[in-house]
Amino acid sequence: MYRTHTCGALRIENCGEQVTLAGWIQTIRKFGSITFVDLRDRYGITQLLFGETLNKQLEETPLGREFVLQVNGTVTERSNKNKNIPTGDIEITLTSFTILNKSETPPFTIQDDTDGGDDLRMKYRYLDLRRNAIKKNIELRYAVNRSARNYLHENGFIDIETPYLIKSTPEGARDFIVPSRMNEGEFYALPQSPQTFKQLLMVSGYDKYFQIVKCFRDEDLRADRQPEFTQIDCEMSFVEQEDILTMFENLVKRIFKDVKSIDYTAPIERMTWEEAMWQYGIDKPDTRFGMQLCNLKFPQHSFPTKENISAIIKSDFAVFNDAETVIAIAVPNASDYTRKQTDELTEWVKRPQIGMKGLVFIKCNTDGTYKSSIDKFFTPVQLKNIATTCHANSGDLILILAGAEEKTRKAIAELRLEMGKKLGLRKDNEFKLLWIIDFPLFEYAEEENRWVARHHPFTSPKPSDIETMINNSPIIENAADYLKHPYANIKANAYDLVLNGNEIGGGSIRIYQKELQQKMFEALGMNQVEQQHKFGFLLGAFEYGAPPHGGIAFGFDRLCAILGGSESIRDFIAFPKNNSGRDVMIDAPSTVDEKQLNELQLMLNTKQ
Ligand code: AMO
Repeated sequence: MYRTHTCGALRIENCGEQVTLAGWIQTIRKFGSITFVDLRDRYGITQLLFGETLNKQLEETPLGREFVLQVNGTVTERSNKNKNIPTGDIEITLTSFTILNKSETPPFTIQDDTDGGDDLRMKYRYLDLRRNAIKKNIELRYAVNRSARNYLHENGFIDIETPYLIKSTPEGARDFIVPSRMNEGEFYALPQSPQTFKQLLMVSGYDKYFQIVKCFRDEDLRADRQPEFTQIDCEMSFVEQEDILTMFENLVKRIFKDVKSIDYTAPIERMTWEEAMWQYGIDKPDTRFGMQLCNLKFPQHSFPTKENISAIIKSDFAVFNDAETVIAIAVPNASDYTRKQTDELTEWVKRPQIGMKGLVFIKCNTDGTYKSSIDKFFTPVQLKNIATTCHANSGDLILILAGAEEKTRKAIAELRLEMGKKLGLRKDNEFKLLWIIDFPLFEYAEEENRWVARHHPFTSPKPSDIETMINNSPIIENAADYLKHPYANIKANAYDLVLNGNEIGGGSIRIYQKELQQKMFEALGMNQVEQQHKFGFLLGAFEYGAPPHGGIAFGFDRLCAILGGSESIRDFIAFPKNNSGRDVMIDAPSTVDEKQLNELQLMLNTKQ
């Protein structure tokens, strides 16, 4: 028997017991004629005491960090207790030890605060995974997996696997493709998601499906994106949007309960896409704090206030006058920001990632006066009016960005998040869920001069918009006028679940009638031949009794990262890729030999 106990099991009550432990050496401390070793395994750390006799043995067989050790000994009370670890009251006074395997000196310390940089840790990921900090994440991931499975099983869902070698179909991102040896010149694609398969399962009558499944997308990577990632993918038949929202907000609440012991009893707020864009400038707002946007320029929009607010910013100030939009936020209790601090914020919005030309600020001083970077153009009364419009209180700092509509909206949304972070309003241990509903069905891709599906081509329009879709041609005469086209106003039966400013899930009620699906493909610029070539199987299935259905998929890695209080999903994936899509440990992707290429009838066109 290799061990009687794990390195996390023994307590003061075990004193006097003869035990055998096995694990890795974390630290070695020599004190004259005795040596202390911390032995680590998945369950914890136990202190070992090498007395005088065994200590002598160490001279012939020295130990090193990360050696795999098996020890026999007696559990003894420690004179110098360590209150920071559960086994801190005891140590094992050893009677014998065996080195099961030696280790090279590890390239970084296997500790919570390691000295290893990102690249080194990824190269030696098997060592990185020994660190407690990563181990906790991997365990949390399993807890989320188990909780989701239990909930879905209890609610009648069944787990059905779908293929990984499928047909390349447009779904938003680029496909990874796989050449087929047996079918010369032909390729499979790896699924961006099991979308069409789960819909086919609904046609087959499996009315509650789920799968915790790998998805593959060849897209540019960020901290919250990986080329292969995992979804909790679900689909249900005979449901409306309301049924899906209820079923899956309860799933997330269950995960909160099981994994974080949090009773999320508050009702989950619902916000239309349009409200989100006006109030927060983004379709996945972090609603843990307010600081909502105030549009100072757009009187034609009745949201959020019906007042004609453009008059508020009338002056000779060309930056406001010439801008397509002018948007403000009121940062609470920040009117005492120094010149240096406002200069830093200005530099922050000028960074290439944000790309604004400058930042206007108005300090709403606590003595009732106003001090701004635009004092030359605005009277104190005007500044006060702006402050009132922005719902700024005495002591607030108003920050204003002006420029092109989309860029400015994105920039102010980022600035709001940055200020939220600076003010400590984005707390790791506070969780706020939010449904975003009523998305537009289409977006206009100006460079391609065609409509694209905002979610995916299988999302149904709101029932009240079906007529508009069927009765109008998708063709646009003048691309600049796309907003005037009836398709621009069609709303989708789609929803996203947002957690602390991250999109953790998204789905929709699907189209299940062949004719409407064909109309959708046509709207996206696909002629009948293309439709048959790419989606003939789905259109065919819709001829054989497709039930009304809908579903959702959660970003499993992302959900785990947020629950674990991290922005990076990498630390929650055992073997992740780096930002260039590489696995630096196994060195993939890599070249293949000539023979493999020949078998696949492939020739590389690489420029030497
Ligand atoms: P969608 O594309 O919105 O929907 O994906 C669902 C969720 O998956 C997560 N996600 C990612 N996580 C890590 N890395 C990525 N590259 C990545 N891309 C997406 C997000 C997202 O909310 N088939 C539809 C679902 C449906 O309609 O039922 C789909 O895949 O958290």
